[in-house]
Amino acid sequence: MLRTNTCGELRKAHIGQTVTVCGWVDKYRDHGGVVFIDLRDRYGITQIAFKPEQSKEMTEQASDLRHEDVIQVTGEVVIREAKPNDKLETGEIEIKADALKVLNKSKTPPFEPRGESVPNEELRLKYRFVDLRRPELQRNMLFRHKLTKVVRDYFDELGFLDIETPILGRSTPEGARDYLVPSRVHEGSFYALPQSPQLFKQILMVAGYDRYMQIARCFRDEDLRADRQPEFTQIDIEMAFVGQEDILNVVDGLLARMMKELRGTELKPLQRLTHKEVMIRFGTDKPDLRFGLEIKDISDLVANSDFGVFKSTIAAGGKVRGLCVKGAGDKYSRRILDNDMKGIVEEYGAKGLAYFKVVNGGLESSIAKFFNPDQQKEIVERMDGEEGDLLLYVADSWKVSCAALAALRNHLGRDLELYDPTEVCAAWVLDFPLVTWSEEDKRWQAEHHPFCAVHPDDLEFFETDPSQIRALSYDLVCNGYEAASGSVRIHDPATQQKIFDLLNIKAEEAEERFGFLLEALRYGAPPHAGIALGLDRWVMMFLGCDNIRDVIAFPKTQRASDLLTGAPAEVDSKQLRDLHIKLDIPEEV
Ligand code: AMO
Ligand code: AMP
Repeated sequence: MLRTNTCGELRKAHIGQTVTVCGWVDKYRDHGGVVFIDLRDRYGITQIAFKPEQSKEMTEQASDLRHEDVIQVTGEVVIREAKPNDKLETGEIEIKADALKVLNKSKTPPFEPRGESVPNEELRLKYRFVDLRRPELQRNMLFRHKLTKVVRDYFDELGFLDIETPILGRSTPEGARDYLVPSRVHEGSFYALPQSPQLFKQILMVAGYDRYMQIARCFRDEDLRADRQPEFTQIDIEMAFVGQEDILNVVDGLLARMMKELRGTELKPLQRLTHKEVMIRFGTDKPDLRFGLEIKDISDLVANSDFGVFKSTIAAGGKVRGLCVKGAGDKYSRRILDNDMKGIVEEYGAKGLAYFKVVNGGLESSIAKFFNPDQQKEIVERMDGEEGDLLLYVADSWKVSCAALAALRNHLGRDLELYDPTEVCAAWVLDFPLVTWSEEDKRWQAEHHPFCAVHPDDLEFFETDPSQIRALSYDLVCNGYEAASGSVRIHDPATQQKIFDLLNIKAEEAEERFGFLLEALRYGAPPHAGIALGLDRWVMMFLGCDNIRDVIAFPKTQRASDLLTGAPAEVDSKQLRDLHIKLDIPEEV
């Protein structure tokens, strides 16, 4: 080893020892001939003093050191000459250098890892090797490692087997666009990178491996957001001879373990909410439960008011729903309400945002005159409004009012700091609909995937109203993210056929796309169920960080490029010829 100690471990107890440390030059200062270097590695920072009386030549060499040079220093650990630096864990000591070896000079870095401000992300991603030296990212990578270890230990203790599934496979019906890999040997054929190990883990159940887990990489070519990457990691789980309750319990246990080992706190039993309930109260199936601000419906109270917008919306089958923002009656200017806040709801299809201040138990605003005193009083009561509160409403279809108010609620929660960003607040959402109607395609679509089992009480709805069929599926929501998702699977071919019929998936199409799973289900498939947790998102939530790229060592940009390596990139024509591929790129218009 080139070192005896790291830059983070030397303390007063080491005084008098001769040590060798290696690292990067974090800071350099010349104090009247004595050169001080802050030497950094991922364990910390140690101050080195190079003194001419020790060696003139060495000190001169030290005065040439610059940011990010890599050096090796040998010397004695001594008490710090200046007063202790309480910002550093090693702040009571310094190393009096005897020998300096420059292991490598660095080009002037594009930014300093411990600089005052965070550099722009494009630069950070291009120079990721410098970016990853930043203490924040090092903390994130370390935390991710710890969380992954807790997960592996937990499942290992419960007898789960970690089994790898293929990366080069067939497209699975998960819903996003596939990343395809052309085959050289099979002209014109393609592998698909897995969107998840879904079908393989079900096949493992058929094969008798009744407790499976995998930290699995998944690939989806979809629009990216702050919580989505084209390749991401799942904690993937499947169990045989179990039902919904067993999966929920295993995951509850995992969360309790993570809370205990990573936070040192006990997990409060998770709330269990139904899909219907969360849509009514929060307008989204992934509510942020760190704060209240629940949606209230005033449709019945304003159906006969004089306000045309509300009246006509309700007459057309829509709803008037809104939020009561405590004490915020004077918080936002008209300009903010009419531009910024209205802009948020408009993004989700709403046509406007109506607002009032609660004054003397009634309403105050430019449209308050359309509501008589009794209506005003009833509205305030329904909203649990108090003097000085702000009431906000969207009048629209059920769907638009849900989406618009959910977005507004999240905005207000953030803006008014209604929660502690490091809190982790998870809950189960159960009883999802099995299918939703697609206006665009004029057919029923699977809400999760076509292998979800059906709630046994809802079979009658196949013939009457498929929208009422509940799936035996469950989501774990946390801090406004979908943090995990899973279901009990169908294990008998007859039910599977019924679902395919409903989804209008033709027998030949099913056989063609995932016949191998259907065939496996015919050879003694046990009842089975599973779930997958978004590992990247869990790391984010525990760290209180809102950018998924900060918890992935080498992430992609919003446009799915890797700025470090330049991927995706063109390949040479020989590679294309081998793959029997001819490019046909449309001219830019
Ligand atoms: P699902 O598609 O819901 O389920 O994915 C499971 C969890 O993975 C996370 N996730 C993502 N994280 C980051 N970037 C993405 N692009 C991304 N997409 C999903 C989410 C999500 O809850 N096979 C099923 C699971 C099952 O039924 O067992 C599946 O993949 O946290
Ligand atoms: P208007 O009568 O269109 O000038 O609208 C009067 C007020 O009602 C404005 O503050 C609008 O933003 C609001 N408004 C208009 N349409 C809606 C709607 N669909 N839902 C809620 N408020 C609306």
